Amino acid sequence: MNVLGIDIGGSGIKGAPVDTKAGELLEERLRVPTPHPSGPDEVAGVVASIVKHFGWNGPVGVTFPGVVVNGVVRSAANVDRSWVGVDASRLFGGATVLNDADAAGLAEVRFGRGRGLKGSVLLLTFGTGIGSALFTDGVLVPNTELGHLQLHGKDAEHRASARVRDEHGLSWEKWAERVEEYLRHVEMLFSPSLILIGGGASKKAEKFLPYVHLDTPVEPAALQNEAGIIGAAHAAAARA
Ligand code: BGC
Repeated sequence: MNVLGIDIGGSGIKGAPVDTKAGELLEERLRVPTPHPSGPDEVAGVVASIVKHFGWNGPVGVTFPGVVVNGVVRSAANVDRSWVGVDASRLFGGATVLNDADAAGLAEVRFGRGRGLKGSVLLLTFGTGIGSALFTDGVLVPNTELGHLQLHGKDAEHRASARVRDEHGLSWEKWAERVEEYLRHVEMLFSPSLILIGGGASKKAEKFLPYVHLDTPVEPAALQNEAGIIGAAHAAAARA
């Protein structure tokens, strides 16, 4: 089935039609900078322009960087607070809407490095925040929000996200220490068989993963940039 996948992020909103059976983009993706402010009306305008760009009138899947339950946004840590309580599915014309990390994880488990794996697999995305997607035998436990675990009395994403590395000018090695501390905590709580690193940081994995030492294998996600788009489309196809 062909579905338009749209990935809403803190800096860009990206979309492309996806062949959900193959897990592949059918056309080059379109990226539009995230508007500021990034409230529901502004973002809905961008989503509509992406739908129009591809001349799309089939099913649409959309990711959102917060908790989403039955299409309704329940948290918005890194986008405008006015999203909380909004029925995003209705706002986007009946699209399937899900958490951004959950979408990336779904893509990774169906088509990427997590394909066919049994046991607990955890995908963590390091970008503006830290997102999480937990799978047991390939089945997603949605909205786990592990970026908000407390470390030193702070949300982990305020210590170890990719944004914090940029803002504090941390070296890869220094940042990797924070990532390792966070991953150890997550490892202690969930004992996953594999931890996959997604989000913007996955493209630079060779710069920091060599400094991260854990008992659990930690590997970069395979799909990187396109995981959100593919996962959103996959979720919509599963519901159609
Ligand atoms: C949000 C999550 C989201 C993550 C990555 C966190 O601040 O609470 O829902 O998945 O950022 O965007």
